[in-house]
Amino acid sequence: MKPKCLSITFLCISLILLPTLISSQSCQRTCGNQHLKYPFGSGPGCGDPRFQPYVTCSQEKLTLTTHTGCYTITNIDYNSQVLYITDPSMSTCSYAQPSKGFGLDWNAPFSFHDGNVFALLDCSITSSPIYKPDGLYGGGNSTLVPLCDREGASICSLLYSCRPISMLNTPISTCCVYTPVDLGPSFEMDLQKLKCTSYSGFYSYNGQDSNPQTWKYGVALKYKFSINNDYPGACADCERSNGVCGYTGDYNSFICNCPGGVNTTGNCFFSAYWNNGLTPLPWQTGVWLIYYLALILVWIS
Ligand SMILES: *[C@@H]1O[C@H](CO)[C@@H](O)[C@H](O)[C@H]1NC(C)=O
Ligand SMILES: *[C@@H]1O[C@H](CO)[C@@H](O)[C@H](O)[C@H]1NC(C)=O
Repeated sequence: MKPKCLSITFLCISLILLPTLISSQSCQRTCGNQHLKYPFGSGPGCGDPRFQPYVTCSQEKLTLTTHTGCYTITNIDYNSQVLYITDPSMSTCSYAQPSKGFGLDWNAPFSFHDGNVFALLDCSITSSPIYKPDGLYGGGNSTLVPLCDREGASICSLLYSCRPISMLNTPISTCCVYTPVDLGPSFEMDLQKLKCTSYSGFYSYNGQDSNPQTWKYGVALKYKFSINNDYPGACADCERSNGVCGYTGDYNSFICNCPGGVNTTGNCFFSAYWNNGLTPLPWQTGVWLIYYLALILVWIS
């Protein structure tokens, strides 16, 4: 055969084999319709080990787990490093329900985004600590000074214009707008402790400040890659070569999980040849050799 025919043959073979290669990549690049990128991964060994216990992909659904529950991740803004979640126990303009609140684990690599607004609903005026005067906020004054945002009154009245929330049948004075800064360092909003029965949270007015129907309900969480928030260069290199960043071993050392399931410490461009330490199955190496050979033949012909 002439080189041209040979290369076409190899190209055909590799095209047939390519789909099986992609399907054997153990770290997924998507979860449902969600694009997955560092620091998030589809399972153990994928992504960043600090995030792995909190963010998991199961049945094509990306979920955040904290000690207060499991939350569907609706969107990840990789440029701004913000994760958006919904809480199925939260009240919105179309649905009011009791909730135990929301909290982040103290050691989780997330923090509340500044844009979050939380409105605590149906709080006990007589027993909730948010209405109790204390040394710091009450200044010894016997009038009740709620620990709620003073500018939150308008948010409460807008939420009360929603039928399901107005049906709670509690006075608007039992609504308290909490800003994340008031939530304390442990990022806890324990409604049982605060003596409130439900809450509503949103992260955007969606351009319509006075229309609570259109607000974006949920919680926005910020994440950081490391102390100085640098995207690791080795991972960027791995992702450029269609790999998925992962980790392995006792020291969680970096690996690049390549299409075909091979793991390297570099990128996937020549992963079959320069597979460091971890041996792929013989047939995988063979398939990759054919693939690269075909590419080289196509290139030279
Ligand atoms: C590659 O790494 C992933 C994630 O750590 C792991 O699940 C998989 O078993 C590894 N594959 C091989 C061939 O070692
Ligand atoms: C207590 O609060 C009331 C109403 O906010 C205020 O008029 C009064 O000056 C306060 N008294 C003290 C001692 O701070």
